[in-house]
Amino acid sequence: MNTMATETIAVSAHQTGAAAGSDLQSGGKKIGDVILDVQNISLRFGGVKALTDISFNVREHEIRAIIGPNGAGKTTLLDMICGKTRPTGGRIEFDGVDLARLPEHKIVRAGVGRKFQTPSVYDDLSVSENLEISIPEGRGVFGSLLFRTTEAVRQQIAQMAENVFLQSHLAMKAGKLSHGQKQWLEIGMLLMQNPRLLLLDEPVAGMSARERDQTADLLKRIAVGRSLIVIEHDMEFVKKIASKVTVLHQGRLLAEGDVDSVQRDERVIDVYLGH
Ligand SMILES: Nc1ncnc2c1ncn2[C@@H]1O[C@H](COP(=O)(O)OP(=O)(O)O)[C@@H](O)[C@H]1O
Ligand SMILES: [Mg+2]
Repeated sequence: MNTMATETIAVSAHQTGAAAGSDLQSGGKKIGDVILDVQNISLRFGGVKALTDISFNVREHEIRAIIGPNGAGKTTLLDMICGKTRPTGGRIEFDGVDLARLPEHKIVRAGVGRKFQTPSVYDDLSVSENLEISIPEGRGVFGSLLFRTTEAVRQQIAQMAENVFLQSHLAMKAGKLSHGQKQWLEIGMLLMQNPRLLLLDEPVAGMSARERDQTADLLKRIAVGRSLIVIEHDMEFVKKIASKVTVLHQGRLLAEGDVDSVQRDERVIDVYLGH
């Protein structure tokens, strides 16, 4: 009870303050208020510092790219935002609520969706069924069972399949999809929950050039209604989707800025060429 009350107060306080200033422009796109504010996050595994004093923020409708060499801490950072791993220090404010203190399911309910590196779809279920089981429970007036059979839900599933380029594969078992199509299906499954922040860990790894282009379009489309954090190595892909890039190296924030300035940054060049 106490926790719930605290959350509610924190959310209302933020909403009251949110009316002021939502006029930031970036890369010609209109983006809004800060939705995620990571403050001085640190994490140790035993004696090893996996992340040290990381601070950055993401705005509404922004696509933020996170890059960095293998082992830089990118995946670990997403683990902390979605509650899979707890930081040993710092705060992660999402819409005014400290995620570092919420259990994973409440972080999902607060509006954070996470896609892991390998696609996790139900191979034995069809594309349509995979999307259907991703609809959050208890939203229907008549209970979830009846709710799921309605025409509105069928349309919702068809629309989502179209969004993720799978409209002609609705009846196909997910196990028969290509690797890239599985990645798209999983993004569709996450979108069924309508998250306000979507965390994507290397979503185009293993995709063909054409699939990458389609995915770039997809991510730009879905960022109209939400924010995205995308971990990606391929700078050509990063250029297509993101206006701002955060660079991690050895668990620290090495640089942050627009794609061009980050690519010119001597420290970033050293880290990539030095390996
Ligand atoms: N569960 C864990 N236990 C111990 N060390 C870990 C664990 N998870 C990640 N690490 C360490 O944290 C560092 C960052 O890893 P990771 O976040 O996977 O990097 P990236 O995604 O940038 O390649 C690595 O040095 C890794 O060995
Ligand atoms: Mg990783």
